[in-house]
Order: sequence, then structure tokens, then C-alpha cells
Amino acid sequence: MQYQLAPLYCRPWTLNGISARLIESHYENNYGAALNRLNSISQEIEQFDFSNTSEQSLARLKRDEIAALNSTLLHELYFASLGGDGRVLPDALASAIAKDFGSVDRWRQEFVGIAKGLAGGSGWVLLTYVPRDGRLINQIASDHAQSVAGGMPVLALDMYEHAYHLEFGANASAYIAAFMRNIDWSAVKLRYEDAIKVAAPRPLEQKQFADVPSISVEEVREMLTSGTPVQIIDTRPKHYTTKAQDIMEGAVWRDPERLDDWIGTLSKTEPVVTFCVYGFHVGCETAATLRKAGFDARYMSGGHFAWKAIKGPVRLFE
Ligand SMILES: [Fe+2]
Repeated sequence: MQYQLAPLYCRPWTLNGISARLIESHYENNYGAALNRLNSISQEIEQFDFSNTSEQSLARLKRDEIAALNSTLLHELYFASLGGDGRVLPDALASAIAKDFGSVDRWRQEFVGIAKGLAGGSGWVLLTYVPRDGRLINQIASDHAQSVAGGMPVLALDMYEHAYHLEFGANASAYIAAFMRNIDWSAVKLRYEDAIKVAAPRPLEQKQFADVPSISVEEVREMLTSGTPVQIIDTRPKHYTTKAQDIMEGAVWRDPERLDDWIGTLSKTEPVVTFCVYGFHVGCETAATLRKAGFDARYMSGGHFAWKAIKGPVRLFE
């Protein structure tokens, strides 16, 4: 595929303390070069001779492709980040930033601090929306290629020297201050509104247990560390436990096949958490049965291995 050049988004003559000459050179020589590089790499990949060229060359091309592709995307976002007065954040965006960073000031300190840390080196500073977490983060993208997977950058500051040397010399701080003075916050807000429409990755769905409430391993850990009374039942199937070496600290193992034998030992006044190996069936079924019998039972999602994955304490299983 051949990628098309995007017209310059900001109006260079309106910028405050960043000259048209700097923007023109940046657009023509760096953005333009990235686009041309991307197109020649794409062509090379399309014409790649799989029978006569090594997979290593293909992997090298693909690495070059992602750097060039991200460089074009991020430069377009950079030029689209400029053109405002940098001062007033629209309310909706200000409250989103305050929610995710504590305050707009803290966000600004972090964003500018990251940029200053890159002075003399290279890389991007991005404000990125992460759909999985439903929040904004500041991130560095070195080599144009470290974007958060699935993230939607909404503001980009170019910290490669070509972005400021021509005019600011080595004075990166003055360049960063000029960038901050020219942020087009209303454009950032529109991009943020688009970004939050991106759905989070689909979670594990267990339709047959949709009515059975679950609890996360982190919540269970919190209950244990805070001393909240809870009855934790490991219901990994008996055949599985013969090879099991460990059991969650604070849990007792009960054979899920013989629930009638041990249900009477449980208290109805304390919550019950059940779990199995991965959290798919047995733990959920046990929780459902216990709920029918009047217990405040939930299954721990992800089961035994999720507990181990957060480094929850375990003891020897005997
Ligand atoms: Fe650049």
C-alpha cells in the first residue's frame, strides 16, 4: 500500500514562539521523510521474495515499517496538537485529566518532566487513552515505536532534536514551554471524546454463570490483609489435587463432588469465596449451589492460578 501525505494541520503563522520556519522544516524534512521511508518499506515488503530472502530480512523490514508508520502517525498528531493557546482546558477534559492524574497541574508536571528527561536524547511524550483501563496515561515512545498496545494517543510532543534544534538550539526547556503554550486543547478534547468510544478488550464471558457474582483475586487479597472475615474454599477437583503442590494461604480444600458432606460446616453469617483451578466451572458451580442454599457465596475469578499470578501467598498442599 502507498500511504498519503496529510496536509499540515496547524497554521504555523498563528503559533506563539514557534516559528513557521521550524514547522516547515519539520513537516517537509522529517514528516515527509518518514512518509517516503514508509512507502518504500511497504513496497519492499509487497515485493518480498520469500524463496530467496531470509526471514531475518523480513523481520528487519517489519521493524523498520513500524518505526516509519508510527513516525508518520505521531507527526500528524504532533502538528494537530498545536494551534491553541495552551491555557484553558475544556471542562470535560480537565476533569478527565484530574481524575487520572490527581490534578491538571500534576499532569502538567509529569508531562513536562518526562519531556525534560528526554532533552538531548530523542523520543515522544504522549498523552494516551488506554481503553482497557478507561484512563489516560503519559507515556514515552522511543524509536517512534513504543506506543501502548491498543492505546489512543491524543496529544504528542516531539522530543527529537530536529523538532527544536533549528530554533532553540540545545535549550529544550524553552521548546517544551513553547509547545505547552501552543497546545490546542479543544482539538485534544475532541480526540479524547473519540478515544473513549473505543471499547475495552472483551472480557472473559461465562454466560452460564452470568447470575453468579464473582470476586477478583485482588479483592480477596484485600479482604485477607484487612482481616475481613471470609471463608475461602478451594474446590479444585479431586483428580487434580493429586498433582497439586500448593494451596492458597487461608483456603481449605473441599471435594466439590461431596458438597453435601461439608456444606454444614460453613457459616451463613460470613461471606464464602470458592475457586477452582482456572475459575471456569467447578468454583462457579459450587458458588451457585451455595447461593441457592442461602450462603453469601462468590467465585474467585481466574481461580488458583490467578491467585498465584498476583503472587498471593500459598502453602504446601497435603
Ligand atoms: Fe519530528
